[in-house]
Amino acid sequence: MSSLSPINSGAAFARASLVPPAPLRVGLIGFGCVGQGFYDILWRLPGFGAEVRRIAVKNPAKPRTLPAERFTYHADELLADPELDVLVEVIDDAAEAFRLVSTALRQGRRVITANKAMVAQHLPELVALQHQHGGTLLYEAAVCGSIPIIRTLDAYFGQEPLRSVSGIFNGSSNYVLTRMGLDGTDYAPALAEAQAKGFAESDPTLDMAAFDPRSKAVILAAHAYGVLLAPEQVLNLGIENISATDIAYAGLEGQKIKVVAGLYLLPNGQLTVLVTPQFVGRESALYGVDEEFNGVIIEAEFAGPQFLRGRGAGGHPTGSAVLADLAALRGDFRYAYAKLRNAPLAYTTDLELEIYLRTTDELLLDQLGFTDITEEADEDGYIVGYVPLDALLQHRDALRQASAFVARTGNVRPAAAHSEEQPTVEEVSY
Ligand SMILES: NC(=O)c1ccc[n+]([C@@H]2O[C@H](COP(=O)([O-])OP(=O)(O)OC[C@H]3O[C@@H](n4cnc5c(N)ncnc54)[C@H](OP(=O)(O)O)[C@@H]3O)[C@@H](O)[C@H]2O)c1
Repeated sequence: MSSLSPINSGAAFARASLVPPAPLRVGLIGFGCVGQGFYDILWRLPGFGAEVRRIAVKNPAKPRTLPAERFTYHADELLADPELDVLVEVIDDAAEAFRLVSTALRQGRRVITANKAMVAQHLPELVALQHQHGGTLLYEAAVCGSIPIIRTLDAYFGQEPLRSVSGIFNGSSNYVLTRMGLDGTDYAPALAEAQAKGFAESDPTLDMAAFDPRSKAVILAAHAYGVLLAPEQVLNLGIENISATDIAYAGLEGQKIKVVAGLYLLPNGQLTVLVTPQFVGRESALYGVDEEFNGVIIEAEFAGPQFLRGRGAGGHPTGSAVLADLAALRGDFRYAYAKLRNAPLAYTTDLELEIYLRTTDELLLDQLGFTDITEEADEDGYIVGYVPLDALLQHRDALRQASAFVARTGNVRPAAAHSEEQPTVEEVSY
């Protein structure tokens, strides 16, 4: 006769159902910062139940930390191997990543990627391929490294309307801004320090000109709002032209400059997305997100505000997100893209933003069409007032080339709000 009490038999059942499944066989494409970080995590977690069976890299001449026989130089061999349960794509070439990932999805496979540029550029097709062929693509590592933001938005907040999702999505530019803010270091030495510490690439354009956080904002727009955007639709202004003057201006008001990616549901029910430097005061949770850290604020309709902060890059933090995706795949998780099934939300750039602009280019000042100017300092060459978002989009390349620096104050209003014909418009502050 069994001596198990009902409680004990429940515990035995729970233990039996936790018997580990057969180890997942992983094909790893890319063995750089993220690939090695993820490999090391799996090595440290032998009980996790996954093994890297095969590794594909590109350069046969590169010294490796594992024996040469562990590597192939033809990623297609992994695509052709039916014994691999999951493919993890962590290469640094967006076009090749799309070829590999889309081929794997056409085979109906389970795939993990960290490539935000690739996902942002091809999201509609990647969603369609999963529907057509039954495969699964997860990409938590593509947005804010270790911060579990995509699954939070997709699964947890899949039904709840969100007022905004905003944050610091790029650790390299945040590190540079932190250095500049601490001791008046200028941009070039702050960037050189970030590069020396491995926080910024040798070609820093993607990070410093805010292309990288723009890709991340585009990905979040799909999960948080069900809006599929082309990256070019989103304004991205970076910090390449920032100077100690701009940092000092922010400091006068007790503020910091941060590159803020913001997805905002406007009072008229439309969505706008902006990625620009912004003045951030102590009242914001982003004020304390310094160095190479990332932070995300979710303003949910019913849950209210929530804040996540963590490391946005690096081998182990990013490898941790890949590990979480692997565990999710084992549980048959897939993104629901629930909000893509809702009535489509309109995306708008028909707005005016209050900005601080520092430039010596008179033509640019005319072209941007400032209204409601509240400050203008000739000696420092800056002006504060409202400009149409469409004008900033149209002239964003000219702004970069003219060494101009733009930061948002956070105030936003519908286009032509200054017009006397339309006096009762709503201004909002983010
Ligand atoms: N680094 C981070 O902290 C971070 C954070 C979030 C997301 N990500 C994303 O993760 C991905 C990988 O970044 P990473 O920093 O790990 O790059 P990385 O250090 O430059 O390493 C890239 C790896 O990809 C391999 N590779 C390139 N082309 C290949 C091809 N055609 N076939 C097979 N292997 C190929 C390289 O091979 P060789 O070794 O032979 O050169 C290298 O092992 C990127 O999409 C990046 O945006 C990175």
